[in-house]
Amino acid sequence: MKIIVAIDGFSSCGKSTMAKELATYAGYTYVDTGAMYRAVALFCLRNGWMTENAIDETQLQAHIHELTVGFQLRPDGGQDTMLNGENVEALIRTLEVGNGASRVSTIGFVRRELVRQQQIMGRRKGIVMDGRDIGTVVFPDAELKLFVTARPEVRAQRRYQELLGKGEQITFDEVLANVKERDYRDTHRAESPLRQAEDAILFDNSDLTRAEQMEKLKRIFDEAVGRCQH
Ligand code: DC
Repeated sequence: MKIIVAIDGFSSCGKSTMAKELATYAGYTYVDTGAMYRAVALFCLRNGWMTENAIDETQLQAHIHELTVGFQLRPDGGQDTMLNGENVEALIRTLEVGNGASRVSTIGFVRRELVRQQQIMGRRKGIVMDGRDIGTVVFPDAELKLFVTARPEVRAQRRYQELLGKGEQITFDEVLANVKERDYRDTHRAESPLRQAEDAILFDNSDLTRAEQMEKLKRIFDEAVGRCQH
């Protein structure tokens, strides 16, 4: 029997790594909902509907139904985000599009449309979906819900290493301030703020290695599937 796994949590806490590895273990489909918000941001930027100060919500609302976001498996096991059939994976991973995604994700009609598409993807179950509102809004009846977190300093350290690796000139304190700012924005927005669903398992991975994290995750998943079979 297949279940739905909803993984929510703060930014830079390793959610997508966990979700991807779990999907591989379970033989399930992995859906990165952050990529969907990023694709909407790209759509807006390309059409000139997003400037530094404003988003043309009238235009976006008039055209949002023309947009379909999907995923395509790569031979290396990874997956690419597809916007109306075009591979936009590399284009949506920039800082500009990330910031745009954070802005479009506060718009109610954008969330409603993406949630609708996400619910269709989960119809046949066998899915691991990661985001901010999966266990609370998209699949409130998911058989397994995880709320992933790690101490801000630990998340900032991981992000700092990642950025240094990309050659960015940045200090640890700047990264930590950014992590805290994003936490505040994610948990305080009016539309679907990030919060732990009552029936979600809190998963703090601050002091776990990747291997330990995966062991724990597999155990939780196997138990959830076992419970559903009874
Ligand atoms: O996880 P990410 O950085 O790719 O997400 C991009 C943005 O989209 C981020 O600002 C949070 C937002 N988001 C959201 O509001 N709801 C989701 N289900 C997933 C992402």
